[in-house]
Amino acid sequence: MRADTLETFLSVALDAAEHHATDDRSRASLAMIRERLSDIPPGEHAADAEMPPVVSQWLGPALRNAPQAPRLAPLLQAIRHIAPELRWSPKPSASEEVRERHANAMLVGPGGWENRPDVWIGLSLLAPDLRYPDHDHAPEETYLVLSGGEFRVGTPDWFTPGPGGSFYVPPGYEHAMRSGEEPLLALWMLKA
Ligand SMILES: [Fe+2]
Repeated sequence: MRADTLETFLSVALDAAEHHATDDRSRASLAMIRERLSDIPPGEHAADAEMPPVVSQWLGPALRNAPQAPRLAPLLQAIRHIAPELRWSPKPSASEEVRERHANAMLVGPGGWENRPDVWIGLSLLAPDLRYPDHDHAPEETYLVLSGGEFRVGTPDWFTPGPGGSFYVPPGYEHAMRSGEEPLLALWMLKA
């Protein structure tokens, strides 16, 4: 069984990610993710949701800034609905500033609400004017950006996908993000 809120979220998130994908590698990855998600692992998620101050303060403004495009509106609504049920966590190894002004929620994935190794799906929220550290990981990743903010993948060059913008991160590529004057909100989907 999968909770209704999570099922709804995953359905609209995949629809939005597929609609906005611009890279064939993202399309292939998302198709595989959709197939894998039809298998629901047994087990319940740990019900220890908590909303850190950065989420209480900045998720509302981030959602209000997001465009009401037809394929994004249901996703924004699903995020609004599911946010209080999520376990938002800081990046433990990061600086104090990043720990206080950023939060991640892992909905599906290792240690996530739906605990599984093969698919990771989650949200990142950055308060304004914050640089998230460079990072890399073995699973390939597709981002769907829901706000302003800049990103870089594998090169020093920053780009601005904009709300509804999508890009692909190959396995092991270093990548990073930074917010500007507004909070940054992004959905990520990884295939291990
Ligand atoms: Fe990543």
